[in-house]
Amino acid sequence: MTNSLEAQLLELREEGEKAIARADTLERLEELRVSYLGKKGQLGALLRSMGQLSAEERPKFGAIANTVKEALQNSLDQQRAVLEGAKIQAQLDAETLDVTMPGIYRPQGRVHPLNGIIDKALDIFVGLGYTVAQGPEMETDYYNFEALNTPPDHPARDMQDTFYLPDGNLLRTHTSSVQIRYMETEEPPIRVVAPGRVYRRDNVDATHSAVFHQIELLAIDEGLTFTDLKGTIKIFLQAMFGDLPIRFRASYFPFTEPSAEVDLQWNGRWLEVMGCGMVDPNVLKAVGYDPELYTGFAAGFGVERFAMVLHQIDDIRRLYASDLRFLQQF
Ligand code: DAH
Repeated sequence: MTNSLEAQLLELREEGEKAIARADTLERLEELRVSYLGKKGQLGALLRSMGQLSAEERPKFGAIANTVKEALQNSLDQQRAVLEGAKIQAQLDAETLDVTMPGIYRPQGRVHPLNGIIDKALDIFVGLGYTVAQGPEMETDYYNFEALNTPPDHPARDMQDTFYLPDGNLLRTHTSSVQIRYMETEEPPIRVVAPGRVYRRDNVDATHSAVFHQIELLAIDEGLTFTDLKGTIKIFLQAMFGDLPIRFRASYFPFTEPSAEVDLQWNGRWLEVMGCGMVDPNVLKAVGYDPELYTGFAAGFGVERFAMVLHQIDDIRRLYASDLRFLQQF
């Protein structure tokens, strides 16, 4: 009896050690631990049959049982270490980053030259205390012409033929319409700059486009004079183009009186770069301002024109062609 219980113990150990060494997952290892060393496990069952033994035999059996338990526990610990190591290694292998693989090419974007000019101009005016405003591209005759002192029979309308919509509205010919919209909702003092797209019924060629961009500028206050206009324009053009000679040339716009065009000396030639003037009293009256109390100045310029001068672009159509060979130069 003694021998057979002892033999069973040793057999349990041998069989257990083999099974543990073959366990290939941590789950399987846990099953084996429960099966051999668990409360209802096989070693426990053998220990419970110790009752059959004589008092002298028990200590010896107990001692062997302990060595078997330790041996099995050792095997379990060893195999657990092996399996855990393998698991970590598998994870590392799976997550390995091959830094020699070719990357994903993401082409770098650039600011379009027109947006570059708009950004720069707005920055300068914001620095001078101006607010940026916008208005709709589809306008009424009133905002685009009438309120700007240009009644229906006015000859100046011929200079700005545009696209009329079936309902009588039109695509704005200039950003000057934003002057009226802004003054209608705000009270003086006003310092506002308005960028946007404008439309003309022009034949498209190297210097004309049916759609282009303008930036409008308006200041209304008590006591503003032509010198304020000149100083503001000078500072703006200097910041934009550098310190070049400029001149003011008398001109005509229905919404300003007096009016002027500004020329800039660029590569030895006088280039016309913007229109401007003192806001006509009729314009102030149209928005309900008292022309005896307030005066102001306004100016407008074409963004394409600025871009073409600054970047020496010979054909306006290049600005709209989305040709990367052209755009990548900026
Ligand atoms: N609106 C004019 C145009 O499109 C430009 C202009 C001239 C705007 C004089 C102004 C100004 O504000 O005072 O040609």
